[in-house]
Amino acid sequence: MIEHRKGISIAVLLIMAPPLVTLIATAHQMIGTGGDGLIRAKAVTASAPTATQAPATAPAASGAPGATPTATPGATPGTAPAPTAAAAPPKPPAPVPGRSALDFSASRPAWETFLHDADPAAGKQLAANGKPAAGVQACVACHGQAGITPSGGIFPNLAGLSSEYLAKQLADFRSGARVQPLMNTVARALSEQEIGQVAAYYGTLAGPPMHVGEFGGDAARKLDVQGDGARALPACANCHGLRGMGEGPLIPRLAGQSREYFTDQMNAFRNGSRQNDDVGVMRAFSQRLTDAEIQALAAYYAGPAPQQR
Ligand code: HEC
Ligand code: HEC
Repeated sequence: MIEHRKGISIAVLLIMAPPLVTLIATAHQMIGTGGDGLIRAKAVTASAPTATQAPATAPAASGAPGATPTATPGATPGTAPAPTAAAAPPKPPAPVPGRSALDFSASRPAWETFLHDADPAAGKQLAANGKPAAGVQACVACHGQAGITPSGGIFPNLAGLSSEYLAKQLADFRSGARVQPLMNTVARALSEQEIGQVAAYYGTLAGPPMHVGEFGGDAARKLDVQGDGARALPACANCHGLRGMGEGPLIPRLAGQSREYFTDQMNAFRNGSRQNDDVGVMRAFSQRLTDAEIQALAAYYAGPAPQQR
């Protein structure tokens, strides 16, 4: 009888131990990262490799607690199995958290409310006419008739970008989180409602035809689809979608943006003059690329010059 009881306690102990260990490890880790498990922009820029080093340079360590702050959300206490399972359960397979583009925004952003019930028809009017009374030129003057710039150059296509990404950028230009004099002036002259309207409008337009991969060579293709583990560089496609199509609400399409605009943005991330990538991923990755690689990637995503399409 006593032997029997002892057996039960050992079994209970065995069953309880793994979830308990997970729980304690998770708590420990959450305290260590400030409670929310987010990558902090400062942490990413200060010692560049931390954000992605683990998967790239130490595949064996992936999943080890503490490997990277990004690895934590999967191991929430809620995922531990109920201790009623019959045999001593193996360590619960932490489900890989689906990456949502919202993961790249630090907190509930103000611009979300700009998009509430935003009327794309009003946005179309604004895009075509601007706001002459407030000195705002029509968007079409610089961004093209249907959001595709005829000349490329420093002017990005707005067609093919999501309403969310557009609203975020306009909000960032308005607050000064993203600096570019022309667009800071434009965005500051728009109301929150108007930002929602133009963002809703441009979000409905299809991007330019795809020519990704026709230029730029194998080096660029490799960076897009594979990245470079030695430099802890994830594939661009991991976030920006296949062939730069964009992914989710907040990761922009790269396909069809001009070489000049692309290069400007990469250099701006690299030298810190563009800092509105909330968790600093683009600032970190752009620093690991050479000038020649940025040029090759620019050609890779841009395709032929607009005049030659
Ligand atoms: C005088 C020219 C000009 C006008 C007018 C203008 N823009 Fe821009 N816009 C630019 C330039 C130049 C950039 C690139 C900024 C940079 O390099 O950071 C830009 C960038 C943007 C971006 C960022 C796109 C991205 O891929 O991140 C958005 C969104 C945008 N403009 C929306 C608008 C809207 C909406 C209007 C009309 C209300 C407008 N712009 C009017 C010149 C203009
Ligand atoms: C971990 C995810 C991630 C990876 C990997 C990544 N990016 Fe980004 N990238 C982003 C996010 C998020 C933004 C939008 C930042 C913002 O909100 O302004 C962005 C923005 C950009 C922009 C600015 C686009 C515009 O319209 O202004 C360029 C250019 C860019 N990325 C190029 C690249 C290239 C090239 C690679 C591969 C070497 C790459 N990215 C890898 C997440 C990523």
